Amino acid sequence: MAAKWAPDSWTKHEARQLPNYPDAAALKDATNTLGNFPPLVFAGEARNLKADLAKVAEGKAFLLQGGDCAESFAEFHPNNIRDTFRVILQMAVVLTYASKLPTIKLGRMAGQFAKPRSADMEDIDGVSLPSYRGDIINDIAFEAAGRNPDPQRMIKAYNQAASTLNLLRAFAQGGYANLHQVHSWTHDFMGRSPWAKKYSETADRIGEALDFMAACGINPETVPQLAGTQFYTSHEALLLQYEQALTRQDSLTGDWYDTSAHFLWIGDRTRFEGSAHVEYLRGIGNPIGLKCGPSLEPEALLRMLDTLNPAREPGRITLITRYGHDKIEAHLPKLVRAVTREGQPVVWSCDPMHGNVVKAANGYKTRPFERILAEVRGFFAVHRAEGTFAGGIHAEMTGQNVTECTGGAVDVTEQSLADRYHTHCDPRLNAGQSLELAFLLAEMLNQELAERRKAAA
Ligand code: PEP
Ligand code: CO
Repeated sequence: MAAKWAPDSWTKHEARQLPNYPDAAALKDATNTLGNFPPLVFAGEARNLKADLAKVAEGKAFLLQGGDCAESFAEFHPNNIRDTFRVILQMAVVLTYASKLPTIKLGRMAGQFAKPRSADMEDIDGVSLPSYRGDIINDIAFEAAGRNPDPQRMIKAYNQAASTLNLLRAFAQGGYANLHQVHSWTHDFMGRSPWAKKYSETADRIGEALDFMAACGINPETVPQLAGTQFYTSHEALLLQYEQALTRQDSLTGDWYDTSAHFLWIGDRTRFEGSAHVEYLRGIGNPIGLKCGPSLEPEALLRMLDTLNPAREPGRITLITRYGHDKIEAHLPKLVRAVTREGQPVVWSCDPMHGNVVKAANGYKTRPFERILAEVRGFFAVHRAEGTFAGGIHAEMTGQNVTECTGGAVDVTEQSLADRYHTHCDPRLNAGQSLELAFLLAEMLNQELAERRKAAA
């Protein structure tokens, strides 16, 4: 029998990566305030996403999860939200058109603020200050005062998440995401990319299909799904004080939900057995993710899945693997075999970002695009060999024309990293690289589906 759970039962477990708030009264004040704020999402929406993810687990849909490594207060602007939203729409169109599978769209947006760090302190020129842990906790500037964790930042992050989500809901349902707009989702600065041309050709074909359907009486008036899309939000459930304050009991089912986002995940550094983060997430009804890196052994994963999904509910768990291009084929098969043997109905998703960070000669933290693609190829190869479904992608990306990851069709070189390097944490794919990734994913997904059809015939 599992021990009783409560929104604060995590406080009795080992918590890593949480800030030490120096002023307990100020922390209480902030969490009390948050506790009285409205939920950002409803339990029913989280259940809808869980049902969508159950389809991915069955091989009948594909999961596209993407957005910033860390959202920031400084980059908060409607154009940034729109641009990331539209690259995700473009990627989804490419994936759906090629695979004929629905694409579940899940933003790392509207709440992705808190960051785990490998070191507690940052040292520059003999000065040592607490590491930056995301705008919801402290300030990125290397100055003593701002590096102290400030609980009022949680209130600011909540407000930014609320207005981001409001805009995303408006984009998703208010006409912007109408499939007839498929041509207008392109970005002006992508003109040079060969993938922009390929996208435009796909959009032409979709336009023709829509015209044909309209002639048959199928249009956004008769089929409202054509007029908008479902867009869900997610972030790493790292700052448990914040997540706890937004944990609410669903009036329909009596179950607890984390209402800060539809989907929450546990990071690679906080997913150890008995951790406060595992304890918190086991009690909420949302669909959840678990990052799986090289240190995760199959037996430990199975025990964790028993804790997090004792009822073996499909759609509840997404395993987000992040090994690195040169490690995935050695590590992933043993996890896949163990999970399959136990009959845990998980979604397998590939994060080709976090195992592929390198330092460029000029000091910039970057990710070579060819390594990202190599990890995705390895992911598909392992699942093909094991007979499981390569069901999703988890990417750090932005709609901006940044120069943070090297490579891609419009080549970002190590020398050009300095041009537009804006990230508050890890390097992100720019809009062109994201679209290129989508086309290559579509190709791999199609191959996988063709082999499945052949095997079934
Ligand atoms: C992240 O997704 O931003 C992250 C920190 O990933 P991981 O926990 O896999 O390192
Ligand atoms: Co990251």
